[in-house]
Order: sequence, then structure tokens, then C-alpha cells
Amino acid sequence: MTNVADKTTKTLEQLGVHSPGDLAALFAELKSGFDNEVAQASTPDAWKELRDRWLGRKRGLMTYAKDHWLLSASAALKPEAGKQLNALRAHVEAALEERRKQLESGATGAAADALDLTLPGLQHRAGVRHILTQTKEEICGIFARLGFSTVEGPEVETDYYNFEALNIPEHHPARDMWDTLYLDHTAGALPDPEASGRGKKSDPNSLLLLRTHTSPMQIRVMEKQPPPVRIVVPGKVYRHDNPDASHSFMFHQVEGLAVDRDITFCDLKGVFDFFLREFFGPKTRTRFVPSYFPFTEPSADIHASCHVCSGSGCRVCKFTGWIEMCGAGMVHPAVYDYVGYNAAEVSGFAFGMGLDRFAMLKYGIDDIQLFFQNDVRFLHQFRR
Ligand code: DAH
Repeated sequence: MTNVADKTTKTLEQLGVHSPGDLAALFAELKSGFDNEVAQASTPDAWKELRDRWLGRKRGLMTYAKDHWLLSASAALKPEAGKQLNALRAHVEAALEERRKQLESGATGAAADALDLTLPGLQHRAGVRHILTQTKEEICGIFARLGFSTVEGPEVETDYYNFEALNIPEHHPARDMWDTLYLDHTAGALPDPEASGRGKKSDPNSLLLLRTHTSPMQIRVMEKQPPPVRIVVPGKVYRHDNPDASHSFMFHQVEGLAVDRDITFCDLKGVFDFFLREFFGPKTRTRFVPSYFPFTEPSADIHASCHVCSGSGCRVCKFTGWIEMCGAGMVHPAVYDYVGYNAAEVSGFAFGMGLDRFAMLKYGIDDIQLFFQNDVRFLHQFRR
């Protein structure tokens, strides 16, 4: 190619071109030189360089060809030279334009690595908060409107907080209510930031266990602050249970505690009427059934009218019209003694509910294991 490009700096005379045939051959040579170059221009930069090399007004090869091959042509060859030059210029311009379009659309074989702007983008699916997280936030949100703040606590507990200070002494049969998972360590084997030298609480030989309920946080919070107390405590709890559709060795609870002067059972009833209506819908009714918990007296199980059949009886409520939602009661005076509150001055209520159970009932989920299998097809259903 250099050859033919060089030739554009020489006159026809110098190149020994005397006949129309020679002239045609010369232009054909230049044209094929151009065709070669245009096929190799595979980037926008290369294309621009090519365009300037051929069409540049002062130093373009077409200008040279005009100056040396046309202007100085003999009268006999001039018309033919003019025709050839015009045809070549038209070809060069058209081919450059064509090449520009190819480069823009990415249709050149040579530009396989070029960015293809026409491909549809990759879609990133937005995540969804876990349905248990959403349920926890909804429950804590309802209680927040009643003035309860949310606190969390340790999942590895001492025997003292999980049982003792909740009025469940060692060897008391009430411990059988919880299938406890004990750890190999004793409290002394781990640093205990809570240790303050008070009684059995900081016993370094105290057994460590995975908390069986969120109730220990009642004690931890009351130890740290004077009344009034109004808290909810969401969190994981653990029991020595075999997994099935309604059991898991790990599940979630939300604990509640309200302690002040002059709190009565009526306050507990009012709070639960409100809470259950907010959560399950305005038609929900509540009822309280006598029960037993060592840390409350009196104790109750709270039932809600079935949100599926509105109380007329269906499979969800086992044809009773009612669903057991929650354990609750008035805080036992013995518990106040453990935390240094004056049982003669304060009163309060406590409650504990299964978060997983609330979510299962509200969303019609029939297997607790679905929460923990992390199948995105299940989890993605709960986009709000
Ligand atoms: N901690 C109890 C359990 O896991 C639930 C419970 C019942 C909590 C009554 C309370 C309460 O605060 O007052 O079975």
C-alpha cells in the first residue's frame, strides 16, 4: 500500500502513465489500497485516522491524487482522470460512512471485544427482608406506639438469669417446662461483663445454657434501671426439641414487661386487646385463660379469636374458634426481690409470645422449618 500512497505524490508523467488503460489501472490500485485499509479500521480512533489520511483537505491522499494526477494531467487524459477521481472519492466517502455505521452498531467481526450497547442489561432482583424480621418490626412497632422500647439480650445465658431470678429455683419441677440446651462451659470459663459480686448471680460455677426464652431480659433490664419500665425484647431462643412442622431447636420470641406504680391486670387486658386487633385486624377479640408461670401471679394464656373463621370454627383454630397466642401475667413479687425493686410499691405485667407462630398464623404458613431453609422462592413471596 505504501507504494500506491507514495505514487500520489508523483505526476502521471513521472509514473509513466500515458494511456487511459494505465490510468484506470493506477486508480484501481489506489482503490484496492483503500479497501484494504478500511477493512482493518476496527475502532473509532482507527476510523478517524483513516478518514483524515484519505480525505484530509491538505494532506489527504485524495487531495494528493487530485494535485498530481488530475491537475497536471495531459489534456488527453484529463477528462478520464477527472472521472476516475470523482468515482474514487465517491467510493471512499461511501465506504467510510458504511464503516462508521458498522463500528457504531458493533457489527464488525473484528470488533468482537467492543462494547455492545444494544444488549439488554442484567437485572438485579432487589432483596426482601425476611418475613420474621418484618413480623418482628411490625410487633415491636405496635408496642412502640404504646410507649414500649425495644431491647435485645444475650443468647448464651447463665442458669441464674434464665431460671433462678425468674423464681425457678434449682430442682423446682417448673424447670421441666423448658427443654434446655446446656453448654460445656461454666460461667467462670468465659469473661462475664455482668459480674458484680451480688449473690449467686456472678457465681463462676453457674451453668451456661442457650436461653430457653427471652424472659431473662426482664431481670437484666430491671437490674439496670429503676421503674418505670416498658420494654419489648425480640430474639432467638433455643430448646432441646426435634424439628417438625411446629418445632425447631431455635425459634423466636418477643418478651414484654411493664412495671410502674398501680399497674393492674386491666392494663394487660387493654394492651392485648389493642395489640391483637392491630396485628390481626379490627374484628379480633381476646380472652384470658388461667395458666401457670413461676414468674407471674396470677398467670394467663391469652387467646385471640381465629382470624381465619372469625371464631366460627375451622381447621386453623382446630374448630374451637380461638387460638392460643401468648403467655402472660402479673409479675411475681419474688421477681422484684431478685432485682431490688420494692414489691410493695410497684406492680406490673409481663408477657411472652412466639414470633414464628405469629407469622405462621398471619400468613398461613404451615411449616416452621420454611423460615430457616432460606429458599428464596419462599422468602420472595413476602415483598411489601
Ligand atoms: N417465657 C415463657 C415461655 O417461654 C413465656 C412467658 C409466659 C413469658 C408468661 C412471660 C410471661 O413474660 O409473663 O414459655
